[in-house]
Amino acid sequence: MEALIGVLPGDGIGPEVMAEALRVLKAIEKKYQHRFSYQEALIGGIAIDTHGDPFPDATRKLCADADAVLLGAVGGPKWSDPDAKIRPEQGLLAMRSSMGVFANLRPVQTHPALYASSPLRSERLHGVDILVVRELTGGAYFGRKERTPDSATDVCTYTRVEIERVLRMAGELARTRRRKITSVDKANVLETSRLWRSIATELYAREFPDVQLDHLYVDAAAMHLLSRAADFDVLVTENLFGDILTDEASMLTGSLGMLPSASLNAEKRGLYEPIHGSAPDIAGRGIANPCGTILSAAMLLRHSLGLEPEAQAIESAVIAAVEAGCRTADIALPGKVPVGTRAVGDAILQALGA
Ligand code: IPM
Ligand code: MN
Repeated sequence: MEALIGVLPGDGIGPEVMAEALRVLKAIEKKYQHRFSYQEALIGGIAIDTHGDPFPDATRKLCADADAVLLGAVGGPKWSDPDAKIRPEQGLLAMRSSMGVFANLRPVQTHPALYASSPLRSERLHGVDILVVRELTGGAYFGRKERTPDSATDVCTYTRVEIERVLRMAGELARTRRRKITSVDKANVLETSRLWRSIATELYAREFPDVQLDHLYVDAAAMHLLSRAADFDVLVTENLFGDILTDEASMLTGSLGMLPSASLNAEKRGLYEPIHGSAPDIAGRGIANPCGTILSAAMLLRHSLGLEPEAQAIESAVIAAVEAGCRTADIALPGKVPVGTRAVGDAILQALGA
């Protein structure tokens, strides 16, 4: 198959982890005889430096034209003055919004080879397989913002349409899994959550009677993710809650560096990115964990290009590399010397037989 992939390395460790993901995609092309073309564009801090705009027109155009977009990370101390008018993260949010990718899929799976890297005891990690579906283009991230020297406001708005479409996507995904959905909100306090909960109750009863629905307050969900993570199947929630819960959930897998994500619109055209940030403290040293980005490339093949065997081949190769002990510092075993970003890429390519 032929496809155009937009490549946005971004800031910090972004270019380093992206380089490994591209090597893996090229190996897949060769092995399975596909022809992908790659077009690179700027986003985030580097785009502010060169264009004065974190989401320049050329990048917007590429996102509109490409079959799928792979992103590294954005942001860094150079651009994070709290009083700055233009911030790298605005580029990321503008991109998500312009692509209409309202559903952000963040799979959280534990694996025995990584139990030792998690701060939690291994009996809590056994059999964890969660898909977090985070609403991505609404809520406080996109509401009206105001600031005076002594007060600040972030408006959180959700419409019925915004809630329904993400709940529906979560319902469809639950049907490919264990048919259990936990809808997470704060309906004891927030009006947006009360609307969310009543729509969830109504929509799942009507359209997904075969799916089991539970509701959970976000504070309780944060606790249950640590005490009984294996009980969850699909967890669906609004933008900010999903952001926070997935950083927390990443600790089940051993490291934030392991988690991929797919952001989809109604046509399943998507944006793919690791859930970690630009990690400025380790940028440029060749030691970042590329697995989150490589696994995001696997999700790209699965969700935007429909290449399931190819996606699975990458996922197996990542596990094989980790099992073989090829691990960056964030997941290194005690007493073992961590390897660099490139070496992880090499081990994954080897496991792919490429
Ligand atoms: C994420 C990140 C972003 C978010 C930041 C960089 C704006 O934390 O993708 O989870 O909050 O959505
Ligand atoms: Mn986040």
